[in-house]
Amino acid sequence: MAKLRVGILISGRGSNMAALIAAAKAPDYPAEIACVVSNVATAPGLKLAQDAGVPTATISHKGFPDRESFDRAVSAELEKHGVGLVALAGFMRIQSPWFPERWQGRMLNIHPSLLPAFPGLHVQQAAIDAGVRISGCTVHFVTADLDAGPIIAQAAVPVLAGDDADTLAARILRQEHRLYPEVVRWFAEGRIALSDGRVSVKGTPTLLFSSDP
Ligand code: GRF
Repeated sequence: MAKLRVGILISGRGSNMAALIAAAKAPDYPAEIACVVSNVATAPGLKLAQDAGVPTATISHKGFPDRESFDRAVSAELEKHGVGLVALAGFMRIQSPWFPERWQGRMLNIHPSLLPAFPGLHVQQAAIDAGVRISGCTVHFVTADLDAGPIIAQAAVPVLAGDDADTLAARILRQEHRLYPEVVRWFAEGRIALSDGRVSVKGTPTLLFSSDP
């Protein structure tokens, strides 16, 4: 059966992108990484993708008069590569409503908190400041509302006494690298259903607990 073609959007480091590329190397993985698109030419993730033999493109948002025209250019690049699923992986651009509409039900994001708690930026510090004992990461469908689309799966990690934003971020990131490839696999296998804004996933637990505190 043909593999699902995944397009990944990045702006920076690209460690989640690298985790998806690594997972897709397995012959039995049901998805392949068709392209990586960055809005930042200096994003370190671009080199990681190139070294892995994945086609890359840089489309700087700076060259466009408004958000939608940038989004349309990104979308055209994804379509050129026959993408069936878009995975946002540290993509730091607010999208126009056009983009999530165009890719509705076919675009995922990973966020380093247990949504709906702590949307936005600097979320590990926010979790520490709030005194929560558990944090983690969330993979969700992308809608026009920032970090608020239907939740597919989460991984939980403890927040330990003495954590700072960096130690907590590192603990969460290890779970991101487990969770994202899993969810992309489920999507490719057709196990994820979205109905009335709620997600159901066939045949697998959608909450992972870290065994790696
Ligand atoms: C990750 O923490 C991800 O959850 C968030 O942005 C960060 C990107 O890191 N959306 P990387 O570029 O994947 O290393």
